Amino acid sequence: MTVFPSHAMAVNPSDVPFKTLAAGARMPAIGMGTFGSDHVSHDAVAEAVQYAAKIGYRHFDCASVYGNEAWIGRVFRGLFQDGLRREELWITSKLWNDKHGEEDVVASCEKSLDDLQVGYLDLYLVHWPFPNHHPPGCDVGARNPHALPYIHENYMRTWRKMEELVDRGLVRFIGASNMTVPKMELLLRDARIRPAVNQMEIHPHFQQTEFLQYLSAKGIQAVGYSPLGSPGRPERDRTPEDTSPTEDPVIRSIAERLGVHPAAVCIKWAIQRGQIPIPFSSSPRNLLGNLCATISAPLSGEDMKAIEGIDKNCRMIKGQVFLWKEGQPWEDLWDIHGTVTPP
Ligand SMILES: NC(=O)c1ccc[n+]([C@@H]2O[C@H](COP(=O)([O-])OP(=O)(O)OC[C@H]3O[C@@H](n4cnc5c(N)ncnc54)[C@H](OP(=O)(O)O)[C@@H]3O)[C@@H](O)[C@H]2O)c1
Repeated sequence: MTVFPSHAMAVNPSDVPFKTLAAGARMPAIGMGTFGSDHVSHDAVAEAVQYAAKIGYRHFDCASVYGNEAWIGRVFRGLFQDGLRREELWITSKLWNDKHGEEDVVASCEKSLDDLQVGYLDLYLVHWPFPNHHPPGCDVGARNPHALPYIHENYMRTWRKMEELVDRGLVRFIGASNMTVPKMELLLRDARIRPAVNQMEIHPHFQQTEFLQYLSAKGIQAVGYSPLGSPGRPERDRTPEDTSPTEDPVIRSIAERLGVHPAAVCIKWAIQRGQIPIPFSSSPRNLLGNLCATISAPLSGEDMKAIEGIDKNCRMIKGQVFLWKEGQPWEDLWDIHGTVTPP
C-alpha cells in the first residue's frame, strides 16, 4: 500500500505555468492523468488525486472508461467541502467510444458530471474518433465485431451533440483526441464550435512535430498523453520494438547534469515546447517531482535541440483493439498516407 506523507511539500498553484486557449481560458500547463492502466486500483488513483491536489495540482485528466470517476468525484467533493472553489480546478473528461450515438452523448456527459460531483466540466473530449470499444483489461487481439472505420458524417453527428453540451452550459470547452491532420481538417471545416484541444500521444520518442505545428496554426492546444512514454501501460499496448524516452541516453545525461529524474526532463521539454503534459503517477514522490519540474529552471536551448534529435517516431499507444478489419495494420488508424483511411 502506498503511504502518502501527511506533511507534504507543496507547489503554490499560482506558480504553475498555464496555457491560454484561443478562447482566452487559462489551462494549467500540467495535468495529472488518472488512467490506472488496468493495474492501479480506483482507490489508489483517488488517493493519488487527493495528494496531488494537496501539493498543488489543479488540472485532472479523467475519462469515463477509466472506471474511477466516482472515486475521484468523492475526492473532489471533499476538496470543495474543505474550501477549494470549483473554478480553481480544471477538470477534463471524455466520451467513450460506445457512447457516440446521438442519444448517448448528453447522458454520458451527465453521468461523468454526477460521478465527478461537479456541475460542469472544463473540457469534454471525444476519446477516439471511432465508435469501436473493447472490454476493460482486454488483450491486444481483442476486436469489436461491429467495429467501423472513421465515418465523418457519424463523427459530426456526435460532434453536434458535443456542441449542445457547450450550449447547455454542461461543459466550457469541447475537444478531440487521437485525431490526425486529415480528420482534423474535416472537423474544422464542419464544426460550429471548434475543438479547443486535441489530446494525443507526445513524448521525446514520439514528438509529432508537424501535427503540433498544424494545431498551433489552427489555434488548437495540444495536450500530450503518455508524456513519459507510458512505462506502466497495459500489455496490449507493448511491442518488442517499443523504446523508452526516460531511458534514452540524451535524456538521462541531461537529467544527471541537472540532478533530476529523467521524467522531469520529459516534462520540462513538453511544457517548453508548448504542449500540456498529463503524466499519471500513483507515487507521492513522482507526483511531486513531476509538478516541481514545471517551476524549476527551464532546459537550455542546447538541451531542447538535443532532445529534438532523439525522436524515434515510436508510438506506444497504437490502438490495435480499435481496428475494423481482420489482419489490418495498426497504422490504418493514424492516416499515415495523408488521407482518411479508407479514403
Ligand atoms: N486520450 C487518450 O487516448 C489517452 C491515452 C493514454 C493516456 N491518456 C491520459 O494520459 C495520462 C498519462 O499517460 P500514461 O499513464 O499512459 O503515461 P505516462 O504518464 O507517460 O506514464 C505513467 C507511468 O510513469 C510512471 N511515472 C510517473 N512519474 C514518474 C516519475 N517522476 N519517475 C518515474 N516514473 C514515473 C508512473 O508510475 P508511478 O505510478 O510508479 O509513478 C506510471 O507507471 C493517462 O493517465 C490518461 O489520463 C489518454
